[in-house]
Amino acid sequence: MMGAVRPVIVAANWKMHTTAAEAAALAGAIAAVIDEPAVTRVICPPYVGLAAVRDALAGTGIEVGAQNVHHELAGPFTGEVSAPMLQGLASWVICGHSERRRDAGETDALIGRKVGRALEHGLRPILAVGEQLADRQAGRAEEVVAAQLAGALGGPEPAVAESLVIAYEPVWAIGTGRNAHGADAAAMAGSIRRALARLGWRDAAERVPVLYGGSVTAANIGEFLAEPSIDGALVGGASLKIDEMAGIVARAALTARARAGVQGGSNG
Ligand code: 13P
Repeated sequence: MMGAVRPVIVAANWKMHTTAAEAAALAGAIAAVIDEPAVTRVICPPYVGLAAVRDALAGTGIEVGAQNVHHELAGPFTGEVSAPMLQGLASWVICGHSERRRDAGETDALIGRKVGRALEHGLRPILAVGEQLADRQAGRAEEVVAAQLAGALGGPEPAVAESLVIAYEPVWAIGTGRNAHGADAAAMAGSIRRALARLGWRDAAERVPVLYGGSVTAANIGEFLAEPSIDGALVGGASLKIDEMAGIVARAALTARARAGVQGGSNG
């Protein structure tokens, strides 16, 4: 890989788990065991826990993310939260998670507007894409993901596109205990970068970190990080467990240091 070494990122998606008080306590406990500055670490609690988690993580270097953002800035949208409202609470936001595509009917176009709002407001979007099992079995996984990217990122590349992160989360691997093969995830990461380049998002194509998500654990994270095209993980169930997070981030730190060392060595 040419150019600057990409960061290694571990993002915890707590989904609809934890009250604010529980989130603060869990964030504090996890922070104590993932003190690895070589890894970009992000915790995404439910909205109501953002402030408490931000406070619990102050001074740790661990960043806070939201799990969603509305595509408008303000207005008659009951129950929704806009990008300006997240300022000071979160610096990342997950956009287009498959659970929102499924349960809230989010389309690629809508998700693209969320990504745009996040970028405009200095939030780093983690754009989640991934195919259904039937798509993979039919050999259409890369085509489906490329179409998701085209639908969401159809417009011109914004100047701040370098803060974009893509999470490849095959739907059949989420919450099932059935993770993808590292090699398949790596092939998809390459396909994602080619799709971004075809869309004209050239800076993003070169620099975008691609994370894998779907039944990631401390036991299998190494299979993904062994692939040079994969830059970390978006972790669901295991991210609520202190020991799992300790193991995942410890393994990610090995990769981060190795990649930085290789880059330093080869570039003198
Ligand atoms: P699991 O790690 O529980 O499979 O969830 C993955 C995910 O959806 C993260 O966003």
